[in-house]
Amino acid sequence: MNMKPNLSKYSIHYRDMDPATADRALSSLQRRIEDFRLRLDLGKILPWIKGPDVLDFPIGTGRFYPHLLGRYNVFGYDIAGEYVRRARTRHPEIAAHFAECSFETIDASRSFDTIVTLRTLNNVGDTELAVRNVASILKPKGRWIFNYPVTGARYSELPALLSRHGLRVISECDYDFHAGTVHDGSLGQRIYARYLRLIEAGLVPYAVFGAVDRVFASRGTHLFVCEKSVS
Ligand SMILES: C[S@@+](CC[C@H](N)C(=O)[O-])C[C@H]1O[C@@H](n2cnc3c(N)ncnc32)[C@H](O)[C@@H]1O
Repeated sequence: MNMKPNLSKYSIHYRDMDPATADRALSSLQRRIEDFRLRLDLGKILPWIKGPDVLDFPIGTGRFYPHLLGRYNVFGYDIAGEYVRRARTRHPEIAAHFAECSFETIDASRSFDTIVTLRTLNNVGDTELAVRNVASILKPKGRWIFNYPVTGARYSELPALLSRHGLRVISECDYDFHAGTVHDGSLGQRIYARYLRLIEAGLVPYAVFGAVDRVFASRGTHLFVCEKSVS
């Protein structure tokens, strides 16, 4: 029997996204804050990546995987057809490496040495199914790198949930102060909005942004690196 997956509203929004919305999302990459966050991501994540086959899942606007090209065999999945089409057009030489697929109904035709899942897992409808499916497409000793907020519904259960599917946490650290600011009270959000305006005006150098992130990173989310057991 072909059971329909239980998709969250968040996932359905992206699955059904129209071209104009996808173009608007892509334009967010021009913002200085997104450039700064990407630089932090690269610093924290690249040292953990093992090749040769690396999957960015989901690719979203395509901010992360381009920085892996030339070093690894890069693949990209996403539930959003619009994002997958844009990735294929942007990188025709690896167009066949991009696929429209979800955490709930995964493309199991390949397996990977590393899978990177940024800014998404907390919004997926069925976390356990997502973990099981990701684990199923990791090679033995393969790594899954993802972030999850400490305020997320399944945070305290994550180590047990991962272990049920053969995944051991080898590193967990504070990550992405920016993502945590949505939980701040109105004063905190007003101060942060001012800080963002200074960043966009070019008045905050990256080194200062990085230092502020280090001081406040515990208010962000957590970055997990897991490794799949051999058997
Ligand atoms: C905030 S974006 C993050 C994208 C990318 N990882 C990044 O860091 O820029 C969230 C992404 O999750 C994807 N997504 C949402 N639900 C999904 C699901 N159930 N399966 C696969 N991708 C999903 C969306 O299409 C979107 O590209």
